[in-house]
Amino acid sequence: MVDDIKEVLVTSEALAARIRELGEKISADYADKDILMVGVLRGAVIFMADLARAISRPVALDFIAVSSYGASTTSSGVVRIIKDLDEDIAGRHLLIVEDIIDSGLTLKYLYDNLLSRNPASVRICTLLSKPSRRKVDVPVDYNGFTIPDDFVVGYGLDFAEKYRNLPYVGVLKPEAYKSQAAHRYE
Ligand code: IMP
Ligand code: MG
Repeated sequence: MVDDIKEVLVTSEALAARIRELGEKISADYADKDILMVGVLRGAVIFMADLARAISRPVALDFIAVSSYGASTTSSGVVRIIKDLDEDIAGRHLLIVEDIIDSGLTLKYLYDNLLSRNPASVRICTLLSKPSRRKVDVPVDYNGFTIPDDFVVGYGLDFAEKYRNLPYVGVLKPEAYKSQAAHRYE
């Protein structure tokens, strides 16, 4: 697994330090509110677990899973909810937790969808952002790290369901994804 990593982009120490900061900022911003954290499965799970413990406000956790309709339609932003939230979110303060924002299409769809269910507020927290790849604007309130246009894995992020358990974020060697199943990320 480690042999497939070209370079460590964010060490586990840097992740821990930044998540501590994000947790303090979020706790201050929601000083008088309870938070419903909405994790986007599956990539956000590891980040969300650490972030939740860095927040000193009461938090509830819920999860949503989306899949895009297929490679040819990803650019249209058509995504499908394959596991919906369990909670009724009307009147709640939502914090969407995502692993990475690339084109922004997934999150734009989710944001609009959740907003239509009348929550009290919706904010977005992403661990990583690749602004150079953005196709649509999404209102990101909290961003862990801005990274260059490389395919990254680890700390929740996968390639073909592999590498999620690496404790850091690393750049995958191109050989590693060329030798495995085709991926939409070209
Ligand atoms: P978007 O809709 O293009 O913003 O895509 C976001 C989703 O694509 C993320 O939630 C990830 O699952 C996946 N993704 C985008 N870039 C990467 C990457 O560098 N490594 C792993 N997954 C990625
Ligand atoms: Mg994801």
